[in-house]
Amino acid sequence: MREHLMATYNRLPVTFERGQGVWLWDTEHRQYLDALSGIAVCGLGHAHPAVTAAVCDQAGKLVHTSNLYGIGLQQQLAGRLCEVSGMDRVFFANSGAESNEAAIKIARLYGHSKGVSAPAVIVMEKSFHGRTLATLTATGNRRIQAGFEPLVSGFLRVPYNDVGAIRAIGQGRTDAVAVLVEPVQGEGGINIPDSGYLPAVRALCDEFGWLMMLDEIQTGMGRTGEWFAWQHSGARPDVFTLAKSLGNGVPIGACLARGKAGELMQPGSHGTTFGGNPLACRAALSVIDTIEQERLVAQAATLGRHMLEQFRQQLDAVAGVSDVRGHGLMLGIELDRPCAALVGRALQQGLLINVTADRVIRLLPPLIINTREAGIIVEQVSTLVREFLSEPA
Ligand SMILES: Cc1ncc(COP(=O)(O)O)c(C=O)c1O
Repeated sequence: MREHLMATYNRLPVTFERGQGVWLWDTEHRQYLDALSGIAVCGLGHAHPAVTAAVCDQAGKLVHTSNLYGIGLQQQLAGRLCEVSGMDRVFFANSGAESNEAAIKIARLYGHSKGVSAPAVIVMEKSFHGRTLATLTATGNRRIQAGFEPLVSGFLRVPYNDVGAIRAIGQGRTDAVAVLVEPVQGEGGINIPDSGYLPAVRALCDEFGWLMMLDEIQTGMGRTGEWFAWQHSGARPDVFTLAKSLGNGVPIGACLARGKAGELMQPGSHGTTFGGNPLACRAALSVIDTIEQERLVAQAATLGRHMLEQFRQQLDAVAGVSDVRGHGLMLGIELDRPCAALVGRALQQGLLINVTADRVIRLLPPLIINTREAGIIVEQVSTLVREFLSEPA
């Protein structure tokens, strides 16, 4: 068959047809346990009845109008997000990259409002913020940037979890206006900073008059055991971004801001055709309601802790396992060698996992997972890891 898709992905040899909760079925009717949720997207699992009902009902009423007109569901969703986050204003986009673009544009408006002619955003090594030109520039991974030069100007890079490096920029440069950071680096390898890191970033932002901007695209919506990962430390950002699980698979992103950062966008300064349309907002409203009704934030915390303990029991003493770490249902098992081959082996056994940063097994199961299903993941992944490490490197 002639290939008509651009070759942007090395796809695994499987096509799914249907899903239910944490389970998926392929076109050959084989069943799979989904420990990845479409990379942190389907937090409520597949075909959650509340989301399905909301989307079907809305599709039969009104899918799209335009941001030229009032959109009640968009206002409702902005209100709900501000309620759970304590932010003031929301801009709706369609993806994570676009949500981060909005944040970067806010940082630039903020800089110009302070008389900085070429404002710069401090970003981290090993970060991931998306594939548009500005967000791939913000991303701390050369492989993602290579071939797309010239990159966008106005970014300053420092190591992750290094407060001193951020302070040094504050003392040395007058063009910095904001810090953009993931509370836990997802693509970078489930890198969890010290518990004092975000509060220290907050303090530096206050000291130097910068915006603290968090990318919660992978960590947000309950995944780490709080609605948003910054809530563990209480270091409230000025701006933060969401996407992925906000619509449980219906594309929607959001850039939330408070105080002055929320007032900088004015009519004409930014926009998008689809952003915050009735269908996407209705889906996201049903996601928020379901997370509350099913108490999934607390469940992510409890089950995440439980899975982490179980993984540590199984793997801590295994030679070749460098680290087992996690924050809620965001789990990483780091090996001492590249282990991408594990993804295909797991698939053959009916389990969906991911490997990122070459040697980190990344697990992002749906928040609706139960103890039995979580136990299956721990058993299966631990066995796969032990077998893999027992082979000659
Ligand atoms: C932390 C983070 N930021 C941004 C993005 C980009 O989101 P999208 O692929 O929806 O543009 C991702 C996607 O993996 C992400 O994990």
